[in-house]
Amino acid sequence: MEKLEEIRAKMGECDDKIIDQLVVRMGYVQEIIEYKKQTGIPIIQPEQEKKQTDVLAAKLGDNEFEEEILDIFKYIVKNSRKIQAKSLFDYNIFLVGFMGSGKSTVAAGLKDKLEMERIEMDEMIVKKQGMSIADIFAEYGEAYFRNLESNTLIELQKKSQAIVSCGGGVVMREENADHMKKHGRVVLLTAKPETIYERVKDSTDRPILNNNMNVEFIEELMSKRKARYEAVADITVSTDGKNVVQICEEIITKLIALDNK
Ligand code: S3P
Repeated sequence: MEKLEEIRAKMGECDDKIIDQLVVRMGYVQEIIEYKKQTGIPIIQPEQEKKQTDVLAAKLGDNEFEEEILDIFKYIVKNSRKIQAKSLFDYNIFLVGFMGSGKSTVAAGLKDKLEMERIEMDEMIVKKQGMSIADIFAEYGEAYFRNLESNTLIELQKKSQAIVSCGGGVVMREENADHMKKHGRVVLLTAKPETIYERVKDSTDRPILNNNMNVEFIEELMSKRKARYEAVADITVSTDGKNVVQICEEIITKLIALDNK
């Protein structure tokens, strides 16, 4: 028994050293993010993370715990992203834009890069109501759905660092802009009607488009909503011809520039 306690005590000393070194390492993460912010160097650098993993694997060589240690480092890197995001954004990021403008895809990309919580407004509503969006529209009508959206946005004011992918029509109510801006920035994603059509043409879960699946209708509705989208947006990013990493980087850069104003 005494022997066991002795080993545990030694392990405790190891933990102390690990904690000390993690604190030092996390301090460096903060230094790096400050440096990137000041110099305008891209925040997301996937090639650097890959390089880091290769260096680690080489260092560990045929270490008997290589697999386990590499797994631990995955969490270290994940948490570095969290520290990075905390120092970048102390508010919610609301993604708005027309159906098919890429809100959900970009929200997933940002979550991956920033380790911030990701919320899909439509999913929240579906879960709470126990009904699909199409069924809510069919049974209770659009105005009822819009009330659910406004209530969801009020509920989301409790969040502090979340990425929220909003339903495409959220901007149409003026009060919704206030709900979003209370603890957040609004990012407008845009795309050409032709691009939108290509992205949504096979989906059947958007009641507004279900009997109007064509470029002309999309163009017309988009132009009706354009002024509202623009009035609500803190920043705007076009998604045509760009990949998710490029869009995420552009959002991050533009938000930092806005915060530094
Ligand atoms: C709507 C957009 C949809 C969904 C509902 C209404 C709209 O969300 O909220 O079908 O009015 O633009 P997505 O933009 O995520 O498709």
